[in-house]
Amino acid sequence: MTILITGAAGFIGSHIVLKMLSQNYNVIGIDNLNDYYSVSLKKYRLKKLKKFKNFTFIKTDLAKTLDLEKILKKKKLSVICHLAAQAGVRYSISNPNIYLKYNIEGFLNILEYCRKNKRTNLVYASSSSVYGANKKVPFSTQDDVSNPVSLYAVTKRSNELMAESYFNLYGLNSIGLRFFTVYGPMGRPDMAIWKFTEAIIDNRPIEVFNNGKLSRDFTYIDDIVNGIEKAILLSKKNKFKKHELYNLGNNSPVALIEMINILESVIGKKAKKKLLPMQLGDVKKTFADIKKSKRDLKFEPKVNLRQGLFSFVNWYKEYHKK
Ligand SMILES: NC(=O)c1ccc[n+]([C@@H]2O[C@H](COP(=O)([O-])OP(=O)(O)OC[C@H]3O[C@@H](n4cnc5c(N)ncnc54)[C@H](O)[C@@H]3O)[C@@H](O)[C@H]2O)c1
Repeated sequence: MTILITGAAGFIGSHIVLKMLSQNYNVIGIDNLNDYYSVSLKKYRLKKLKKFKNFTFIKTDLAKTLDLEKILKKKKLSVICHLAAQAGVRYSISNPNIYLKYNIEGFLNILEYCRKNKRTNLVYASSSSVYGANKKVPFSTQDDVSNPVSLYAVTKRSNELMAESYFNLYGLNSIGLRFFTVYGPMGRPDMAIWKFTEAIIDNRPIEVFNNGKLSRDFTYIDDIVNGIEKAILLSKKNKFKKHELYNLGNNSPVALIEMINILESVIGKKAKKKLLPMQLGDVKKTFADIKKSKRDLKFEPKVNLRQGLFSFVNWYKEYHKK
């Protein structure tokens, strides 16, 4: 079975590619290697993937790739796992256009490929940000999600609606995964855990928004990868004929201040905290209801925040040789 994984040089993409390669699947990875954050980090991840003979990498921008079939040289795909997107809530405030290009046009090109190639099922990344300013917790896929607080969230919700329309129109089977604050080795430098780690080690102050009165359902990368793999397998079952949404979150939110306390103890150094007001586009709390994911994907997050931060900080130090 050949799987196409987009965003392969990204944080989550590189981890799921590694997992599928180690199980002998043939994997084609696509990424445009854009410079939203360090391109050398993306190349570092790719280097690990290129060690496998069953991996092929194609550098292309999916927003511009109208004829994916030509690029894939007519190779038949069993599943597309579409993770390529412009991520980040805060960046969508200052750079809205790129979100429409990468997240909407890029996604449409993937849907069009699947429409023309009926046997290719789709698993794609959505986000907990679709829950926006919802008050009711934990967030369930049954909840109303018409209250977004960022354009990033709008593009992710739009992807879900686009997938739903392609199911209704053309019977395209797909699974949307709403990820909750993913962290771990080879993570993203624009996210809080990386930024805080870097600042604490370098003796710089950390920026703590909403005076620390935020909480997140931090989810370790290995748990996310297990969930994605189960979704890929579910999408290939003959009886799977629908568009379905699942939350992939830890189901155990942690206050930002508590996360900082744990990080300080893992690094062995106190943080200098700069308390700041709430940021535009941010939400106060995320908390995943994972009953449906447990039932259908056997999704069981196993790594707690202390263990996960320990693995991240070890990797971070090794990567920077600090
Ligand atoms: N990391 C999280 O906490 C989190 C949470 C919710 C949702 N998500 C979603 O999960 C997916 C993966 O996130 P990530 O954290 O690995 O982000 P990432 O930025 O590390 O990975 C995305 C990759 O996609 C590539 N890319 C972007 N636009 C592209 C395009 N038009 N054509 C080809 N490649 C393109 C980028 O170069 C990057 O390598 C994204 O869709 C993101 O929105 C992530």
